[in-house]
Amino acid sequence: MHSAVLGTQWGDEGKGKIIDLVAKEHDIIVRAQGGNNAGHTVVINNVKYPFHLLPSAILHPDKICILGNGMVIDPDVLLSEIKNIKAKIGEEHAKLMISDRAHIIEKKHISSDKKKGKKVGTTGRGIGPTYADKINRSGKRYENHNGKLAKYVQDTSLFLFNEIKKGKTVLFEGAQATMLDIDHGTYPFVTSSNCTVGGFFTGTGIFVRDLNVIGVAKAYTTRVGEGPFVTELGDYEITKKEKRDNSEKLLVKINNKNASAQEIGRCVRLLGKEYGTTTGRPRRCGWLDTVILRYAARVNNLSNFALTKLDVLSGLKELKICDCYRIGKDFIREIPSDITKLQNAVPAYISMPGWDEDITKCRKFEKLPLNAQNYVKMIEELTGVPVKYIGIGPNRDEIIIR
Ligand code: IMP
Repeated sequence: MHSAVLGTQWGDEGKGKIIDLVAKEHDIIVRAQGGNNAGHTVVINNVKYPFHLLPSAILHPDKICILGNGMVIDPDVLLSEIKNIKAKIGEEHAKLMISDRAHIIEKKHISSDKKKGKKVGTTGRGIGPTYADKINRSGKRYENHNGKLAKYVQDTSLFLFNEIKKGKTVLFEGAQATMLDIDHGTYPFVTSSNCTVGGFFTGTGIFVRDLNVIGVAKAYTTRVGEGPFVTELGDYEITKKEKRDNSEKLLVKINNKNASAQEIGRCVRLLGKEYGTTTGRPRRCGWLDTVILRYAARVNNLSNFALTKLDVLSGLKELKICDCYRIGKDFIREIPSDITKLQNAVPAYISMPGWDEDITKCRKFEKLPLNAQNYVKMIEELTGVPVKYIGIGPNRDEIIIR
């Protein structure tokens, strides 16, 4: 069966590792939207492989990786990623193809994004301005590209169609996430493409009827850039104090007294190493929000969840899960379209006891501490979607599959 892996929160859920795992069962891996605003990290034998443009499956020599027509691609960045990957693993990488209909990010797009993208806190990579030119019908596509990338360019929609007809299976690799989707996210604090499931079809030029849609969710929530974040713990400005902080000491402190939201947020950021792959920015951190996860489950018709970084929560005495929002007098269980409503929403929490044990060695769900099992089961209960994968450490094999 064909699969899709997409983000359910505001990105940085750890999609790379899930994609790397699922890619094994597919022949072709295709990206459909975004550009080098994305950042995946795959860790193999303690070596970190960061990717921005190339699908993470580029490490698998027997696969075909496609950059689809829905993408916007900076040729210089792509050339340098190709060079880096060759330097690290030689020629033993996947075959690469670029859609002739993908759009080119030009210098002018990057400088315009750096000037105008501040309000939203964009990554400054020229993504929005390139899509704007595409919609204005003044963009440049790869069809006539005669640079070093020309040998990779072809009609990838046609290629995919023919391969699927032969029985090959496709993995759609999502970038960014549901809450950053231009239509379904927290507009205007969003990226400029459709990161929800529909974007996979328009962004590749193929449609498949049976699709296993895996929604990746971090065991807590993070966000980079501006915009509403209901379950945020404190503000995210990185302080000098934070740089000196030691996460273990902070953990003892927050468990021993009535810690402030800011201290808990800081502790989660340190424990989870929540600093951006693409921009290095500290990420805003908060409790898990199942209003968002239910929304993501609905708009993407999720088959299951991959819950990542559960190990980061080890050691916290109390965990909280947001089940609904209070806006004025009303309790709501759906994401409002009105951004000011969302900005004024107050989270209603379910409190759960945490666990102390190191869970990174667990490979079976039943081996997890009972409180960790209950945390996962609560997510399933509140969303109605099974949690199939549980990430319990950064390495490739640190995962529980149910
Ligand atoms: P842009 O995609 O550079 O236009 O940025 C728009 C918003 O999406 C900003 O808030 C970015 O921080 C956010 N964003 C873009 N790509 C990612 C990602 O891969 N992870 C998390 N946030 C992202």
